[in-house]
Amino acid sequence: MANNKPLRRSRKQQSVDISEAQIAVHWREEGYFSPRAQFIAQANLTNKGVLKRFSLDKFPGYYEEFADLLDWYKRWKKTLDTSNPPFWRWFVGGEINACYNCVDRHLAKHKNKTAIHFVPETEHEAIQHVTYQELYVRVNEFAALLRDFCGLKAGDRVTLHMPMVAELPIAMLACARLGVIHSQVFSGFSGKACADRAVDSESRVLITMDAYYRAGSLLDHKEKADIAVAEAAKDGHKVDKVLIWQRYPGKYSSPTQLVAGRDFIVNDVLKQYRGKRLEPVRLPAEAPLFLMYTSGTTGRPKGCQHSIGGYLAYVTWTSKFIQDIHPEDVYWCMADIGWITGHSYIVYGPLALAASSVVYEGVPTHPDAGRPWRIAEDLDVNIFHTSPTAIRALRRAGPEEPAKYNHHFKHMTTVGEPIEPEVWKWYYKVVGKSKAVIVDTWWQTENGGFLCSTVPGIHKMKPGSAGPGIPGIHPVIYDDEGNELPAGSGKAGNICIRNPWPGGFQTIWKDPARFVTQYYSRYCKNPKSKNWRDWPYMAGDGAVQAADGYYRILGRIDDVINVAGHRLGTKEIESAALTVAEVAEAAVVPVADPIKGKVPDLYVSLKPGLQASKALADKVSGAVVFQIGPIARPRTVVIVPDMPKTRSGKIMRRVLAAISNHQDPGDVSTLANPEVVEKIKEAAK
Ligand code: WTA
Repeated sequence: MANNKPLRRSRKQQSVDISEAQIAVHWREEGYFSPRAQFIAQANLTNKGVLKRFSLDKFPGYYEEFADLLDWYKRWKKTLDTSNPPFWRWFVGGEINACYNCVDRHLAKHKNKTAIHFVPETEHEAIQHVTYQELYVRVNEFAALLRDFCGLKAGDRVTLHMPMVAELPIAMLACARLGVIHSQVFSGFSGKACADRAVDSESRVLITMDAYYRAGSLLDHKEKADIAVAEAAKDGHKVDKVLIWQRYPGKYSSPTQLVAGRDFIVNDVLKQYRGKRLEPVRLPAEAPLFLMYTSGTTGRPKGCQHSIGGYLAYVTWTSKFIQDIHPEDVYWCMADIGWITGHSYIVYGPLALAASSVVYEGVPTHPDAGRPWRIAEDLDVNIFHTSPTAIRALRRAGPEEPAKYNHHFKHMTTVGEPIEPEVWKWYYKVVGKSKAVIVDTWWQTENGGFLCSTVPGIHKMKPGSAGPGIPGIHPVIYDDEGNELPAGSGKAGNICIRNPWPGGFQTIWKDPARFVTQYYSRYCKNPKSKNWRDWPYMAGDGAVQAADGYYRILGRIDDVINVAGHRLGTKEIESAALTVAEVAEAAVVPVADPIKGKVPDLYVSLKPGLQASKALADKVSGAVVFQIGPIARPRTVVIVPDMPKTRSGKIMRRVLAAISNHQDPGDVSTLANPEVVEKIKEAAK
């Protein structure tokens, strides 16, 4: 699979695209903040010995400490098998069940403790507290339904298109109990996006909910399932069953019809399975636990396949030592379970540690920007986890709100995008009341869990910096030629990880060749080598390493835009635009936004003889929402007479990005059609 050819090709394709401007806009070095003595006194990890114990010369043995946090039916024989790089196999020979580790094993000590606090968006609706015993019962009954009513067994795939409700982790854990591979699609994604993922994963069962609350309205969600099934059928794939949870059990809250023989109300069918208990299925450590689709350099989202043993070990260790979760903690990660952060740090990590995890249905600023702090006060949340986008939005909408509430965080996380030092300091001083430690965690869907972060009980914090690699992770920055850029060089390059780690995804579902070329080919030192040292993992982010060893992440080097912490492929948006018959060419560029970080601008040219119009621009925008979902809606659709092109016919996105960001497009004289630039500027006004 990996030979010299893709190696050379991909080197050209993926040049390090960190412009001077990008570095220049970056903030200056900040001073340190120290964790408080009270935090350190209770922290799970304060002994610096861990840094030595997890040094590269001890690799991979130190990862046994991760796996030892779990209960195994059978202990593994080999910690890491590297015989087929870069398809690393962790804890080979081990047998385990993820559901057992997140539920059953806590019953002896914690059965009466809350596993999930479900907080409905409507504030007058009571919070539901699902105990570990109740979680056990509900997961068992739903697993029985999946097995006996749907005929699902280990290795089958199921697509979930669920909002943020307690039934989502219940459904995931029921799948995990059986070894059924779940693929949860973010509820904000369209029916068509759900269909694409169901087709790719060949899911015959779709699990959804009739409706959910978002920004004050009860949204019909079942209509998306109807679209998903119809769109999948167009691709020749049949979804046999749609399982529909009810937002209000006993009441169907969607105006759509139920399709006889296809659609089933979960709460009705579940009655047959009351009291059912199923032994968790003993599964190989390397069996897949779930797929998580994410955006990359091509138009098609890719299914990142995560394992049971390695993934669960990784998220459990990082939850314990980076999130500092103790069983008595109330932990709230405000991400959506439809993204990797929610899988790892709302569901699997916290529940493996018997914590109480908060699942909040709605938007943080509903009905006002005090809502998160009221929730935190009422549930006595002491660990809080969110994204820079949410922090910026809360800061703008209610800078004084946190001070009004009596919440006490010991620990706070930021994840998903670079955080501006200004915003970091507001988070620290106002939200955390200068008492909470902050970890800025850098990682990706592909990685399973954190890659860079300070260890909160050991390291000082530095606003705007993710920190060093976490214990066991050994990052390196390469320049275009593959030279290492040392700490303190002041130069930006491609951040890579020298060593494999158990949380890393196993492959791209049904596309192992792309797994190799996209993440490994570029800096592979020898494609024939069986030595993991020759196979650094390329993350696709630009970064600089300061003299103190802390990494500052600058953003994506590929065709990915990080909109409000949500990862979107420019190619995906462009392909969506091209589904409109009138569109000849489409190009998406990122535009800086004070709240969302980046938003997409979409430039399109029309087929000959067609006129630009507002209606056509709306149609293109509508197509993007249909194909992907409202999060991908372009800020503006600019219809241009022609795209700026190189002489070889390549669209110069750099010129479009400059126009959208009100910057100077620079020298355009080398374009094949320099005269078009002024016309584009005019159209973009
Ligand atoms: C970006 C989310 C700066 C980065 C967990 C990465 C960050 C992409 C940070 C992955 C951070 C994530 N600082 N940038 N702390 N965390 N990113 O797959 O560009 O949705 O490649 O995973 O988000 O997004 P994904």
